[in-house]
Amino acid sequence: MTAQRTLILLKPDAVQRGLRGEILRRIEAKGYDIIALAQRTATSEELAAHYAEHEGKPFYPGLVEYMASAPLVALVAEGEGVIPGFRSLAGKTNPTEAAPGSIRGDLAREWDLPVIQNLVHGSDSEESASREIAIWFPELG
Ligand code: RTP
Ligand code: MG
Repeated sequence: MTAQRTLILLKPDAVQRGLRGEILRRIEAKGYDIIALAQRTATSEELAAHYAEHEGKPFYPGLVEYMASAPLVALVAEGEGVIPGFRSLAGKTNPTEAAPGSIRGDLAREWDLPVIQNLVHGSDSEESASREIAIWFPELG
C-alpha cells in the first residue's frame, strides 16, 4: 500500500476542553506523521466547502455554528492506511456508541445540543481527503 494523506480537524470542543495534546499524542503514538498543522477559526467559506455533503440536513445549521464557535486545529496526517486508520482511532460519530479506546469513546459524551459534538473529523475516502486537504491547506495541493 502506498502512503495516504488524510485531513483531520480537532474541532472547537477539543480545543476548548484542552484535549489537543491528548489527541495529537494518539495520532503520533499510532505512528502517523503530521505533515501540516494550523490553528484558526474556520471561515464560513471553508465550512460550506468542507460540509457541502451535509447541506440541507436538519443538523447542518447547528454543525456550521458549532464548527465556527471557536478556533479549531486542522492537520494533515500521512502513512499507509491513515484514512481508515484515523477513522478507527476516532470511533463512531455518536460518542455514546463509540468504543472505549477510541478518541470519541474515551473523551467525548452526548449533550442536549442540536448537533453531535465529537472532538474530531477525519476524511472518509481518498477522494474526500484530497478535496478537504485542498480546502484547509491549499499550499499542499
Ligand atoms: P466527521 O465528518 O466530522 O469526521 O464525522 P463523521 O464522518 O463521523 O460524521 P458525518 O456523518 O460526516 O457528520 C459530520 C458531523 O456532523 C455532526 N452530526 N451531528 N444527528 C446529529 O446531530 C449529527 N449528525 C452528524 C457530527 O459532529 C459529525 O461528526
Ligand atoms: Mg464525515
